[in-house]
Amino acid sequence: MSRIAYVNGRYQPHRTAAVHIEDRGYQFADGVYEVVPVQRGKLIDEDLHLDRLEFSLGELEIAPPMERRAFKFVLREVLRRNGIDRGILYMQVTRGVAPREHKFPLMARPALVITAKRLKPVPAQYLEEGVGIITIPDLRWKRCDIKTIGLLANVLGKQRAAEEGAYEAWQVDPEGHVTEGTSTNAWIVTKDRKIVTRPLGREILPGVTRRALLALLQAENFVLEERSFALSEALAAAEAFLTSSSVFLLPITNIDGEKVGDGRPGDFSKRLRQLYLDHAARQVSAA
Ligand code: PDD
Repeated sequence: MSRIAYVNGRYQPHRTAAVHIEDRGYQFADGVYEVVPVQRGKLIDEDLHLDRLEFSLGELEIAPPMERRAFKFVLREVLRRNGIDRGILYMQVTRGVAPREHKFPLMARPALVITAKRLKPVPAQYLEEGVGIITIPDLRWKRCDIKTIGLLANVLGKQRAAEEGAYEAWQVDPEGHVTEGTSTNAWIVTKDRKIVTRPLGREILPGVTRRALLALLQAENFVLEERSFALSEALAAAEAFLTSSSVFLLPITNIDGEKVGDGRPGDFSKRLRQLYLDHAARQVSAA
């Protein structure tokens, strides 16, 4: 089945789908995006993603390209036309096409692109051995709570991680506290079994996986602390892990070349990954 992309009202072959050279996303990164997981052909936590998209659009004063019901219809249509069983759906809204000038154009209509991608299961090695990460200074702007397509610092960070043979880079603020990964939220489990993740604020993306997992943890009576943690605390933690829509939850067993805990994925990471998978499976069977 060849891939199909949705571009401003049209379903086009993915290979040749294109937007105009003066799209403000291309010229200014003036746009926002979402990545929604797909399991057994169903979107997971769809409304939470659409809520965040609305928030991001609102913060940038970009009008939603369509109302939510229509949006949901198009998302399903893209999934159907691509025959996606397991993967991700990507959607991007920019301020639209206009002659290049920094201030908002008077006439531009928001541009919407939606694509779908099949994903292989997370490699067993990541789950059995965990992944290694590096740490880098957080060079991003002061509104990381908006899911904008302006991801240059994230791109550079992920590239550095790859060059150093690591899976991800945790970004560290000037106070020495971990903000988040370049495309994932950051968590630790302390030696006294508290699960810690940075509170929401302008320094991190309000991850949908983070939010879903927090609700599951509360329901299961885990001890949670939403607070900043220092890199030194992460290095001394019993466990560390990361979350995102594309990998759900991966154990981190190495930070900057130092073992986390005993260097093996811990029980919390395994249990919490399963909790999240069960949560996704419930949505699939309810849909
Ligand atoms: N990344 N932090 C950042 C900076 C992110 O880019 C992401 C998501 C997350 C996790 O958020 P969520 O749980 O809603 O996926 C945290 C997506 C997957 C990406 O850019 O591909």
